[in-house]
This record gives sequence, C-alpha cells and structure tokens, in this order.
Amino acid sequence: MELTNKTAIITGAGKGIGKATAEALAAEGVQLGLLARTASDLEQLQQDLSSRYGVKVFTATADVANSTEVRAAVSSLASSLGRVDILINNAGTGAFAKMVDMDPEQWEQIIRVNLMGAYYVTHELLPGMLEQQSGDIVNIASTAGERGFATGSAYCASKFALLGMTEALMQEVRKSNIRVTALTPSTVNTPLAVNAGLPIGDEDRMMQAEDVAQLVLAGLKLPSRVVLKSAGIWTNNPQ
Ligand SMILES: NC(=O)c1ccc[n+]([C@@H]2O[C@H](COP(=O)([O-])OP(=O)(O)OC[C@H]3O[C@@H](n4cnc5c(N)ncnc54)[C@H](OP(=O)(O)O)[C@@H]3O)[C@@H](O)[C@H]2O)c1
Repeated sequence: MELTNKTAIITGAGKGIGKATAEALAAEGVQLGLLARTASDLEQLQQDLSSRYGVKVFTATADVANSTEVRAAVSSLASSLGRVDILINNAGTGAFAKMVDMDPEQWEQIIRVNLMGAYYVTHELLPGMLEQQSGDIVNIASTAGERGFATGSAYCASKFALLGMTEALMQEVRKSNIRVTALTPSTVNTPLAVNAGLPIGDEDRMMQAEDVAQLVLAGLKLPSRVVLKSAGIWTNNPQ
C-alpha cells in the first residue's frame, strides 16, 4: 500500500523504536505527529526529518499516563495533520524487579504507561478513524506479553494486557476497515533496554530500533485486505 501523504501519530517518538519508526515513515513521505514528554527530543527530530525528507512534522508533549494531557496533545496533533491514518502506540516504560521488591507505585506506573497510555491515545483517535472508515493502529508490545519471567510481573502484565486489548479491538473495528496490530519484539538496543540493564551482548548482532521500524513499515504496506494479527521479531544474538 502506498504511504506517501498518509498521516501518522507516533507516541514515544523521541527515542528508540519510536524515533526510528518516525524516520522510516518520513522516508516514505508520511506526515507526522510526534508525541513524548521531552520537547527537545521531538523538536530536534522535527527539524531533522522535515529538512531531510520534506514532510510536515508536528510535535506535542504529554505523559501518556495522563488522560487530560493525552486529550490536549492528540487533538492538537490531529487538527494540525487534518486526519490521522496511522497510530503507532509505542510509548512505554520498563523496570524489572521481583514483585516483593517493587513498590506498588512503580508497579502501577508501568501499567499506566504501557496499557492505559495506549488506551487513552487510541480512544481519542478511534472516532475519527471510524468516521473515515479507515486506519491502522500498531501497538508495540513485547515477547514479555507472550510469556512471563521472574522480575517481569508488572511489565509482562502490561504487555499481556496490551495484546488482549489489541485482539479485542481488532475484532471490533476490522469491518470498519481499521487494522489493529501488535508487534512483539524481543530485546532491542535502545535506551529503555540499556537503562533497565537488559543483556545487550554483542552490539553488532543485537536487534536495533531501525529493524523494528522496518517491520512496522512492512505491516503498514500490506494491502488493506490483509490484517497482520501480531508479529514477533527476535534478535539474532545468541547469549
Ligand atoms: N527495547 C526493548 O528491548 C523493547 C523490547 C520489546 C518491546 N519494547 C517496547 O517498545 C516500546 C519503545 O521502547 P524503546 O525501547 O524504544 O524505549 P526508549 O528508548 O526508552 O524510548 C521510549 C520513548 O517513549 C517515551 N515515553 C516514555 N514514557 C512516556 C510517557 N509516560 N508518556 C509519553 N512518552 C513516554 C520516551 O520519551 P520521554 O521520556 O521524553 O517521554 C521515549 O521517547 C515500548 O513500548 C517498549 O515496551 C522495547
């Protein structure tokens, strides 16, 4: 499917997978709305992508865990873009500790950002997609949404739930020509993985944010008759 002149909102676009996805979409001629909490990251990316690819890029800051901030930021981006064809729910956080050692505020915060954040942004944009009878929603989940591991109770719970929300919504809106997809990457070499102390191993063999972005792009380019239900992407970095 041709993506030139489509429009996309990407959450968590300032770093890692979101930033790489913004670049991959800009290279295809997609007009962008970038959202994260750090304005300077977004402004730098806005300048870079608009000058290199000649696409329109708008930015808005919000904490996706805050529904009021999400409403203001998403409506500003949507009105600047005119319509929203693609939503990439990518903003996420990760912290890993045994349940007994993680305080309830941190546990809850992971659910708020990774699950409620995706829900708030989607809820704001769904009416427009239903009205235009088209859209693509891509949720960045994780292999942690498919199997649990020690120290991952909050992160795994958030990603299992995100996959459940994805599948339920996919069934709800596919007859309206809206595709809802999840990607389930294993560890990717990004600030999140490094800050959380995840094993990166041999950097040359480690999956990069740009690799995940290519899968996002491939899914979006599939003909609209095809729904990519969920797709795994693994690092080929045996430890
Ligand atoms: N890296 C991995 O190994 C891996 C593997 C599987 C899945 N994932 C998933 O991929 C997604 C992206 O992860 P990443 O590794 O690219 O992370 P990252 O490098 O830490 O980047 C995360 C981005 O999200 C933004 N963000 C974080 N919390 C936010 C919030 N509350 N509200 C709005 N924006 C927020 C950050 O910017 P600000 O801090 O400025 O807001 C940043 O731009 C996440 O959903 C993560 O769970 C990552």
